[in-house]
This record gives sequence, structure tokens and C-alpha cells, in this order.
Amino acid sequence: MKANVTRRNFLAAAGTAALAASANTAHAADAGGEKTLRILGIACSPRQGMSTAKAVQAALDAAKAVNPRITVELIDLGGLSIAGWSPKPVPDAFDAILPKLRDPQLGGLIIGSPSYFRSLSALCKAFIERCMPLREGSMPLADKPVGALAVAGNRNGGQELVVQQILTAMLSYGMLPVGGKSPAMLGGTLWNTKDDVSQDETGIQSAKLLGTHVAEVALKLC
Ligand SMILES: Cc1cc2nc3c(=O)[nH]c(=O)nc-3n(C[C@H](O)[C@H](O)[C@H](O)COP(=O)(O)O)c2cc1C
Repeated sequence: MKANVTRRNFLAAAGTAALAASANTAHAADAGGEKTLRILGIACSPRQGMSTAKAVQAALDAAKAVNPRITVELIDLGGLSIAGWSPKPVPDAFDAILPKLRDPQLGGLIIGSPSYFRSLSALCKAFIERCMPLREGSMPLADKPVGALAVAGNRNGGQELVVQQILTAMLSYGMLPVGGKSPAMLGGTLWNTKDDVSQDETGIQSAKLLGTHVAEVALKLC
């Protein structure tokens, strides 16, 4: 049956539609303004939950405290089997991590590594190499902030070298290297004594300052 469209009900329907449209637009604008951002922390010690993971978690907690729009997630590579890049890739634990790096909600990365022979861990290098697919197409990591922290067994055990190595490598993905806030301008540098990194107040503070800065930059860039 044909609808009985009078001038009055046509105008009422049009008005309702216009209101709904403007409400939707406002909702979308609100949603845009309130877009949540996820900061991923990658802990690259083969020892799950140890000082590197704790340091990255401290950085993430500080990042989360910056703004309710910031969500955080720790990816502890400890105990996971992740090979370096290969022309003949074999499925491994990295496959579950890759989609998280492609997520449009990703606001930035905080990568932590132990200092091994004053260099980044093999696991950290493998993680960075396996991000290779993210150099293709839209380069989903490009123009997002990345911060780095390192934990060593000695006070001057190569922490700053490791941070530099990580940040330099992530430039290859178009990421924007971000240090901490003063006085931790390079990033997080922590000293692990007796497997209790919480004893290193200065180091933990450097991790927190890094997390804060990465979150602040992520918010500015989104
Ligand atoms: C293979 C290996 C190499 C290491 N090389 C260094 C080093 O060059 N400088 C240093 O200060 N500590 C070195 N350490 C100590 C680790 O950096 C330190 O224990 C760190 O806290 C380990 O991180 P995790 O607790 O998250 O496993 C090394 C440890 C291992 C196992």
C-alpha cells in the first residue's frame, strides 16, 4: 500500500532525519575527539616477567596515567619463540603479535631490551626484523612515537647504547624516536641489581618519564 504522505508528516519525517543526521555527526566528532590510543610495550628479555618486563610495565603505567584516552598493553616476549627474518618464514609466536602492530588504534611503542654484551638482545633484534611487513604499503608504524629502555647488570652496562640501537632500527619503519622527559632525555636506562630493578629508583623514574613522554607525543599526533 502506498504511504499517505502529507506535507505535515513529510516535514516531520525530514526534521527527524535531519536531527538524527546532526546527532550522528556530533557523535562521530565526539568519538574522533575521544579516540582511544593504545601504547604497546614490548619486553625483549628471554626471561619472562623479569627486570625488563617490569621496567616496560612501569613505563606503560606512566603512559596510562597521562590521559584516560591512553590504553596500554605489555607484550612480554619472554618464553616466546620468535625467529629473526627469513626468506622462508616458519610460523611462530610473532604471527599473533603482528595484527596488534597493524591496529589503527596503535598510538606508539615502548621497546625494552636487556643489555647483552652492550647490545640489544637477540630476541629484540628478531622482533625488529620481523616487523619487516610493516615497511610495506601504508607503513602502519610510520609517524608514530617509539621510545626505548634498556636494563643492564652494571650501572654503566651499555644501556644508552642499547636504547640508541633500538631507536635507530625503528627509524626504518618511519617511527619517530622519542626520549624521556628531563633528565631522562634518551629514554629508560635501568640498573638491575640482584634481579630487583625496583631498587633502582633513578632507573625506574627514567622508565616512567619515557612512558609519559611517549603518551604525550601520541596524543599530540593523533
Ligand atoms: C648473555 C648476557 C649478556 C649480558 N651482557 C651484559 C652487559 O654487556 N652489560 C651488563 O651490564 N649486563 C649484562 N648482562 C646482564 C643483563 O643485562 C641483566 O641481567 C638484565 O637485567 C637482564 O634482563 P632481565 O632481568 O629482563 O632478564 C648480560 C646478561 C646476559 C644473560
